[in-house]
Amino acid sequence: IAQLMFPDGQFGWMITRYEDAAEVLKDNRFIKDMTKVFGSGSQSIFTSNMLFSDPPDHRRLRGLVQQGFTPKLVESMREHIQQIADGLLDAVEGKDRMSLIDDYAFPLPIIVISEILGVPIEDQDKFRVWSNSIIGASNAEEGPDVYRHMQEFTEYLGHWFAKVRENPGDDLISQLISAEDAGEKLSEQEIYGVVALLIIAGHETTVNLIGNGMISLLQHPDQLERLRENPDLIKSAIEEMLRYNGPVEFSTSRWAGEDLEFRGHRMKRGDLVVVALDSANRDGDHFSDPDLFDITRERSRHLAFGHGIHMCLGAPLARLEGEIAINTLLRRFPNIRMREGADALEWRPGMIVRGVKEIP
Ligand code: HEM
Repeated sequence: IAQLMFPDGQFGWMITRYEDAAEVLKDNRFIKDMTKVFGSGSQSIFTSNMLFSDPPDHRRLRGLVQQGFTPKLVESMREHIQQIADGLLDAVEGKDRMSLIDDYAFPLPIIVISEILGVPIEDQDKFRVWSNSIIGASNAEEGPDVYRHMQEFTEYLGHWFAKVRENPGDDLISQLISAEDAGEKLSEQEIYGVVALLIIAGHETTVNLIGNGMISLLQHPDQLERLRENPDLIKSAIEEMLRYNGPVEFSTSRWAGEDLEFRGHRMKRGDLVVVALDSANRDGDHFSDPDLFDITRERSRHLAFGHGIHMCLGAPLARLEGEIAINTLLRRFPNIRMREGADALEWRPGMIVRGVKEIP
């Protein structure tokens, strides 16, 4: 548990050990809605969703969409996701160069989440720019103009919701809009918040499960061969990829909702608390041989999807996308390997999501 002090005087704590991390993530003294500790002021559109809410709002907002992401419903998408994966690889066949990130790991989850939400897949490049910018992973050279991007994204969603109101379908946005129209279940601002969160989560995370997972395999050719020979190991392999080289480095911010004591540390109301998920996932007190990448590791209860009430809503979908994406790649590219001498991977900036720009 490390103390943090920011230049503006904000105090904080970084939690790096597994047991402490799991405890913080389920301790309701640490809250998500910062307006509760820093006075009034309304939440922005991009925080009007379950990830930045506490009970009871959290339960209400999560409840509105969770039916769309249950393991059973997600499993019914298997064949379709397989077609998307094969289609993306068909599209690069015959080309002399393929980018594993741009041509495959990135578009696959985007196509899936766009279809679930009913937003046009042709707009994926815009979503990518906006998501990157909002999550703070933009390239410094690209000039992260985050407020402009937030505004463009909001306007885009506004136009899209108006279209859906005129002509609803059976997609998730239509369902949210009809829930709003039918009663008090969620506000207009919350529709923006929930949809933006799903678009951003759909853009910034699974791409890195596929990317970081492939890096782990390419750097451990014995494990790669083992998986290629036994594709049924994919489920435990995905869990190990999530643990060993996780796509989300830090949890989102939590705040001490009161003066409190945690594991002998006195924390003040308003202190920032962040959990280093990837660090906890390599804690030797919890995982035997934590730096070993072993795709047959027994169920390890890693924290890559978080823990407690905010545990990832999209976990079943992300796992399925990861399974299909990686097994399909291994099946269709029997000689895949990292380019000789390509040791220096270039990681994208940003504190929360963790992924590379490219895999050589
Ligand atoms: C929450 C990781 C994919 C939707 C979270 C959290 C983590 C996480 C760590 C909790 C953050 C915290 O407590 O501060 C991941 C990883 C993914 C992934 C590693 C891919 C491998 C997805 C996808 C979706 C999604 C594909 C969308 C369908 C969400 C939502 C929440 C969330 C809505 C908020 C849940 C709540 O507050 O109740 N995710 N995620 N995630 N994730 Fe994911």
